[in-house]
Amino acid sequence: MAAALRATSSAISKTITSGSSRTPPLFGGARWSSSWWGHVDPAPKDPILGVTEAFLADPSPHKVNVGVGAYRDDDGKPVVLDCVRKAEAKIAGNLNMEYLPMGGSNHMVEETLKLAYGENSEFIKDKRIAAVQALSGTGACRLFADFQKRYQPESEIYIPVPTWSNHHNIWKDANVSQKTYHYYHPESKGLDFSGMMDDIKNAPKGSFFLLHACAHNPTGVDPTEEQWKEISQLMKDKGHFPFFDMAYQGFASGYPEKDAKAIRIFLEDGHSLGISQSFAKNMGLYGQRVGCLSVLCEDEKQAVAVKTRLQHIARPMYSNPPVHGALLVSIILSDPDLKNLWLKEVKVMADRIIGMRTALRENIEKLGSPLSWEHITNQIGMFCYSGLTPEQVDRLTSEFHIYLTRNGRISMAGVTTKNVEYLANAIHEVSKSS
Ligand SMILES: Cc1ncc(COP(=O)(O)O)c(C=O)c1O
Repeated sequence: MAAALRATSSAISKTITSGSSRTPPLFGGARWSSSWWGHVDPAPKDPILGVTEAFLADPSPHKVNVGVGAYRDDDGKPVVLDCVRKAEAKIAGNLNMEYLPMGGSNHMVEETLKLAYGENSEFIKDKRIAAVQALSGTGACRLFADFQKRYQPESEIYIPVPTWSNHHNIWKDANVSQKTYHYYHPESKGLDFSGMMDDIKNAPKGSFFLLHACAHNPTGVDPTEEQWKEISQLMKDKGHFPFFDMAYQGFASGYPEKDAKAIRIFLEDGHSLGISQSFAKNMGLYGQRVGCLSVLCEDEKQAVAVKTRLQHIARPMYSNPPVHGALLVSIILSDPDLKNLWLKEVKVMADRIIGMRTALRENIEKLGSPLSWEHITNQIGMFCYSGLTPEQVDRLTSEFHIYLTRNGRISMAGVTTKNVEYLANAIHEVSKSS
């Protein structure tokens, strides 16, 4: 018997090795070969993380990384906010390491909702919001996408062109089919408002729309308040469901309250909506993975049902979210002094970026560029969608050791008083003949 099995196994093994090593045949329900994972191809490189890898490998002393979407100070160094250090000091040695509930820290979630819905929101008072702590903004988007698939299985999601590339991965992996809507207008380097409105109008009634609440990534182009009002009204007329991804609250204007304006307009118009919030950028808690997913429901009963279902989806994935960052956020947001300090520090980060926009534009113009660089200061938030072509970006990298994604997105957070002239000169050099 054993000999027969060995013979069969060896025959199969021969068949497999002589066939494609990428797709061995199914055997006993699994793809089996002399190597269990021989058919696994390496995944394509993430376009953003690949830039950082290439930057790190470059020995040039002149190298500049304007690819990464993380804040840097004027020395190009990562920043830990003072409010975070103070909150850390408060918990040092005092914290037990127990699990959080499945939905995360209730205290953190309560404080986080106030930032999005407003300090005195009637929806919070009426307990109409189903909200759970999420694994930062990515986790909140993914949890929502899974929820959407489970409870509106036939629905699609409309995603702006362009968008943060991971949005596509998130809804794809949740098996939600995707449509796109016009957003960026390459000629004006601003918003394609009429294209966007047409797409909202032409989408089937009751469609899901992914909206960037502020500081759109990668374009830095946001609708004006008036435009948001029109978008909200049209979406209401069409019965669409808006899902706001708010990864940069505070980074656009320097004021978290002001950056929540689009959401507040939709709330006033009586939408049912969802929000993803992240503390990666505005509190500098990138690696702590703290965020929140909320869904505004019709009443408290519905909110309880939705919340328990969100927890139910989270349970087999990661059981419950991490405790440390959530504690930092809840301490900062509930202590008036620390909250004030945070608000000041967000403003400092946003102002440094705004200052670098002006400096970059002025420096390119000073060199006599025949092109318009107005969009650098018109756009807002962490990113400038420069309009540089992939070939021009390649030249920036190969000739000047400047690293960014090939779509021409410049992370303004990587621009400093020390590298802005060098960057401006390089941009001028690669763009002057276009
Ligand atoms: C638009 C947008 N959404 C969500 C995220 C998610 O960030 P995180 O998961 O670190 O909160 C990012 C990060 O770059 C982003 O740009």
